[in-house]
Amino acid sequence: MARRDTSFICQSCGAVYTRWQGKCEACGGWNTISEEVAVAASVPAAQRSGRKGRAVVLEKLEGTAKPAPRLVSGIGELDRVAGGGFVPGSILLIGGDPGIGKSTLLVQASAALAQRGQRVVYVSGEEAVDQVRLRAQRLGLEKADVGLAAETNAENIIATLSGGPPVHMVVIDSIQTMWSDSVESAPGTVTQVRTSAQLLVRYAKQTGACVILVGHVTKDGQIAGPRVVEHMVDAVFSFEGDGGHQFRILRAQKNRFGPTDEIGVFEMTGRGLSEVANPSELFLSNRDAGAPGTAVFAGMEGTRPVLVEIQALVAPSSLGTPRRAVVGWDPNRLSMVLAVLDARCGVRLGGHDVYLNVAGGLKIGEPAADLAVAAALVSSLTGAPLPADAVHFGEASLTGAVRPVSQAQARLKEAAKLGFASAVIPSGGLDGLDPPVTVRPVSSLAELVAGIAASAPRRARDEGPRETRNAAPRETRGSNDRNPPQRAVQHADWGDDEER
Ligand code: TYD
Ligand code: MG
Repeated sequence: MARRDTSFICQSCGAVYTRWQGKCEACGGWNTISEEVAVAASVPAAQRSGRKGRAVVLEKLEGTAKPAPRLVSGIGELDRVAGGGFVPGSILLIGGDPGIGKSTLLVQASAALAQRGQRVVYVSGEEAVDQVRLRAQRLGLEKADVGLAAETNAENIIATLSGGPPVHMVVIDSIQTMWSDSVESAPGTVTQVRTSAQLLVRYAKQTGACVILVGHVTKDGQIAGPRVVEHMVDAVFSFEGDGGHQFRILRAQKNRFGPTDEIGVFEMTGRGLSEVANPSELFLSNRDAGAPGTAVFAGMEGTRPVLVEIQALVAPSSLGTPRRAVVGWDPNRLSMVLAVLDARCGVRLGGHDVYLNVAGGLKIGEPAADLAVAAALVSSLTGAPLPADAVHFGEASLTGAVRPVSQAQARLKEAAKLGFASAVIPSGGLDGLDPPVTVRPVSSLAELVAGIAASAPRRARDEGPRETRNAAPRETRGSNDRNPPQRAVQHADWGDDEER
């Protein structure tokens, strides 16, 4: 009888151990290690026999390379993220939270390709055929000529696909439900996921079909299963959005055939996902312009400018350690902006709770949002609204200086297109710029703070008693010789004067 080699494999990173242990030393995960039949036992005998390799012909780097032909679905947002359509023979992984709309997107993509005459097969490992049919009916796509199967065995799927006429695209929903006869581990384990993915990669490369894998996402947003699947595939997309919003964003994290950090924006409607051609309009709709604590950030997502509202709320804290809550931005980056405001501009927020929200459920990764975040924070603290027709962008450095960011022209053009009249931008980035809106260059965060502060008392006076109360929260307390601020440094006691 063959010897059973078992090993212990971390289910989140794929690290292999000889004994069980509670914590994976490779990824730090707790209770992620489980016993599996060793991968070595599943390697085909031919590969273990030690046969000699075959020499391959080496090529020159120079030569003619044809651009990859593309399978275009006609869903513009999807095709753009894929780099202008799907590449035959490539394999993609789409990850996302449960219920975010992965299956919906892929049923729509399958139907769109089928309607353009491509042969598409949709394999569901999670839902029965009837459930997929119901979804197609709801989407009004039941007439599309898509081959449908509910199957979880990778060998059966490949036999089915290889049996008929050539297939252009295969959707596997999801890779975590797949299992292969060649390994003994339970379905859903790292070994099974990896082996099934390997079989499907081989199928894609051999037949030239484009294979799309759906992947589950763990609590902390990683695609579940071993990272190796991410390395095996040609592209990794994540489908994001939060349950409370209708917007869904498809983001390329890795793409061997196209740009990364390109996004596709969709809206989940009663009849499936519809494309959002102008995301800025969507993110700025229902904006509470003129309220203190909101700033419009002119950002870039890949090649596309996207305008989005940043909302900040700064309120005196009753807690020993004030709260810092961030939605849609990097919390470390917020800490940095708060530290710079404190150390370089005298804006003390150590005794305040700070809440920051990127409206519309968008996640921003750009440091260029620093300036807009700082403006929103200071505006909330002082109660002075920022001009409703201004956009902000610029990166803050630890010295308090504001640094130029890329693609300023594209950002300003988008702002002008959406009716904004002015922009607060880094003074270092003005060279070669032909601004379509009035620009207000700032060289440091202190200058920005001074600008907002200068408008605070006057606006507050114009706008009545409520704002007056909020506008100059602590200035009037303590010594009387503090005049309305002209420069930020005179504002050194905003915030925590009782602590000092
Ligand atoms: P689904 O594609 O099943 O999500 P996933 O495959 O990522 O788990 O989407 C499920 C959600 O989408 C569900 O909560 C209902 C909603 N939905 C709509 O709002 N409109 C629609 O037309 C469809 C098909 C789904
Ligand atoms: Mg699904």
